[in-house]
Amino acid sequence: MKGVIPAVALASALLGRAALGVDVNVDDDGSLKTAASTIAYGLMRFYTGNNTGDVPGNLPDPYYWWTAGAMFGTMIDYWFLTGDSTYNDETLQAIVHQGAPSKDFMPLNQTRTEGNDDQGFWAMTAMTAAEYKFPDPPSDQVQYLALAQAVFNQYVKRWDDDDCGGGLRWQIFSFNNGYNYKNSISNGCFFNIAARLARYTGNATYSDWATKVFEWEQRIGLISGTYDVFDGVSIDPDKSCKSVNQAQWSYNAGVYLHGAANMYNISGDGTWKQRLDGLLKETQARFVKDGILYEEFCEPNKVCNNDQEGFKGFLARWLAQTTRLAPYTTESIAPVLKATARAAAAACTGSPPTGYKGPAGTACGFSWLNNGAFDGVVGVPSQMDGLAAMIAPLAERGRAPFTAKTGGTSKGNPGAGSGEQRDPRAMRPITAADRFGAGLITLLFVVAVMGGTAFLVM
Ligand SMILES: *[C@@H]1O[C@H](CO)[C@@H](O)[C@H](O)[C@H]1NC(C)=O
Ligand SMILES: *[C@@H]1O[C@H](CO)[C@@H](O)[C@H](O)[C@H]1NC(C)=O
Ligand SMILES: *[C@@H]1O[C@H](CO)[C@@H](O)[C@H](O)[C@H]1NC(C)=O
Ligand SMILES: *[C@@H]1O[C@H](CO)[C@@H](O)[C@H](O)[C@H]1NC(C)=O
Repeated sequence: MKGVIPAVALASALLGRAALGVDVNVDDDGSLKTAASTIAYGLMRFYTGNNTGDVPGNLPDPYYWWTAGAMFGTMIDYWFLTGDSTYNDETLQAIVHQGAPSKDFMPLNQTRTEGNDDQGFWAMTAMTAAEYKFPDPPSDQVQYLALAQAVFNQYVKRWDDDDCGGGLRWQIFSFNNGYNYKNSISNGCFFNIAARLARYTGNATYSDWATKVFEWEQRIGLISGTYDVFDGVSIDPDKSCKSVNQAQWSYNAGVYLHGAANMYNISGDGTWKQRLDGLLKETQARFVKDGILYEEFCEPNKVCNNDQEGFKGFLARWLAQTTRLAPYTTESIAPVLKATARAAAAACTGSPPTGYKGPAGTACGFSWLNNGAFDGVVGVPSQMDGLAAMIAPLAERGRAPFTAKTGGTSKGNPGAGSGEQRDPRAMRPITAADRFGAGLITLLFVVAVMGGTAFLVM
């Protein structure tokens, strides 16, 4: 983007927000913050949950519940790294509303869409709130740390040694498709939350579980010897668990990278350093092109779905935080985050005729490899990616996440989540139809991938 049409400049000036693309200087915090503020405004215009009669914490169709959870996590990062608290009230309200009914991010309304990974994205957002000292809810309401602990405790209960020697299933409920699939993102959410709880609280129970999850992923072949992170493994009828779906997504690399950085941070341990280095090397090789983050599996062919479009934004946020936890990685990570921010600024220049309520010239396209042009993709995921890209370089000079010992204020409850009424295994036996459903998804996936297009994974 080399110029800006006067109408856009005028509109931006009236709104007091700079247009993107022209002047973003990724070495200047003020410039990044101004750009981030413009993108954040466009992102939050998608959100209607704070309107009268709407449900706090939900995004309108077609976005799933988990995407909203991830979006509020991005908004907490935004506040932490820029100091702009404009959206804090809505963010707090959303977390409390979705976390409160059962104090564990298991709202009944979401039973049909909620897998372990969906719950995990909300729990990671709560954990981020605790680590950053995001304003705490009033003391008679749910608290961030206790929410993350509740989800951790439920993951422990759902850990399933009977199949594949351990691991969480993708789904919580046997009636949802994907119950017979153990995937890296569900186990990655468990690993990530456990590692961060270990760092925040200093309680060894959490680090023991983090180690256990990571080593199970390696043993079952979901994390390879060179730190590829594969999508998941089907529970075969003979229970051999040999059907590994080898698709690789940037958020899987990121969720383990960030967890490993936490484990390295608290232990200084050589094994965790080796894992962190291996994951970082693999991330750099697979999800960086021309120095810029991209989604290798679906971006070149333009076949990413709404879920997949959001993954590289999470990777950007996890990479940024990794530099705080393992400062030696900054040398390798910072150049990628800067180049990515530069490219994202150039892609956040869209004026789509429909589907975007932010100012003209500020919609974020999806691909950042587009020679500085808006690629026409509009939506929460691409806008959220743009925001993540713009704030990520700020982390280099930002502070490290807090712990209970260094000033964290969130109230915990180590026993939270144990009151879960709905142990999924007690609900009803798995039927042939469930098996067929999960098998069909895997089959469709394989066929679709072989045919050159990717099929849904979440
Ligand atoms: C919802 O939040 C936005 C800020 O993003 C604000 O402009 C709007 O007034 C809020 N709506 C209500 C009903 O509170
Ligand atoms: C569940 O849905 C009802 C009806 O739309 C709504 O009033 C309630 O706030 C929702 N609960 C949550 C936790 O979103
Ligand atoms: C853990 O993080 C803190 C805060 O950034 C940092 O000072 C410390 O060096 C890190 N520990 C290791 C082992 O890198
Ligand atoms: C450590 O965490 C475990 C698991 O939640 C809990 O049972 C235990 O009481 C905790 N220990 C301490 C000292 O807080």
